[in-house]
Amino acid sequence: MTNTSPPHHVAIVMDGNGRWASRRFLPRIAGHKQGVDSLKRCARACDARGIKVLTVFAFSSENWQRPQEEVSGLMDLFAIALGREVPQLKADGVQLRFVGERQGLSSRVLKGIEQAEAATAANQKLVLNVCFNYGGRWDIVQAAARVAAQGLVMTEQSLSQMMSLAHVPDPDLVIRTGGEQRISNFLLWQSAYSEFFFSDKLWPDFDEAELDRAIQSFGHRDRRFGRVSGQSRADAAPTVAR
Ligand code: IPE
Ligand code: IPE
Ligand code: MG
Repeated sequence: MTNTSPPHHVAIVMDGNGRWASRRFLPRIAGHKQGVDSLKRCARACDARGIKVLTVFAFSSENWQRPQEEVSGLMDLFAIALGREVPQLKADGVQLRFVGERQGLSSRVLKGIEQAEAATAANQKLVLNVCFNYGGRWDIVQAAARVAAQGLVMTEQSLSQMMSLAHVPDPDLVIRTGGEQRISNFLLWQSAYSEFFFSDKLWPDFDEAELDRAIQSFGHRDRRFGRVSGQSRADAAPTVAR
């Protein structure tokens, strides 16, 4: 059975900015700048297609290991882009959420994050989760620590409620651009039953046509969630405790 409606939640590993720049003999940061424009286009295109949640991987826990020049360039770009883009995102009805470890971020970046979240909190059209200083393992560990700190029993449900994306359902479709076919510590917990689409396009070149290819591919997937094809949820054997 295939999916007739568009994915509710799309998550993207926006990879390939550095290669996009290198191919043009430009510094890597030029690729990251193009990446911001690509994200703006993509958010608009997702909204136009009825997607309600877009989650993007912007900076991983491991990306601190890049050369100092690139890391500081990315931090600057992030702070500048936030200041510049928030008014338009607000007008477009986008609710911005930042997901990741905030400790260790500069006060400038933190201020930008807090202001962007406050300015767009009431928006409902599209939730845009920006994973920044994020790692899937970090997320599981921080969730487990919160379950323990509150003295709760550790279950799939209690842990899920403490995960950093608890405000949205799990992603239906995870796209990775840039040609690599790996998860690189993205949504390890939340992608348990996501469909994956790997695109050879470098992130700055990712356009509406490629988004449509991903959505079309999603439309042909048979999501079984462990059941058999065509089986209704009601027709399940009694649940065995997990
Ligand atoms: C993804 O693009 C953006 C970040 C990780 C910040 P890359 O910078 O990883 O680009 P490539 O993979 O080197 O081309
Ligand atoms: C994943 O891309 C992280 C982001 C897109 C922010 P990387 O370029 O860091 O992943 P690896 O190192 O190729 O696995
Ligand atoms: Mg990369």
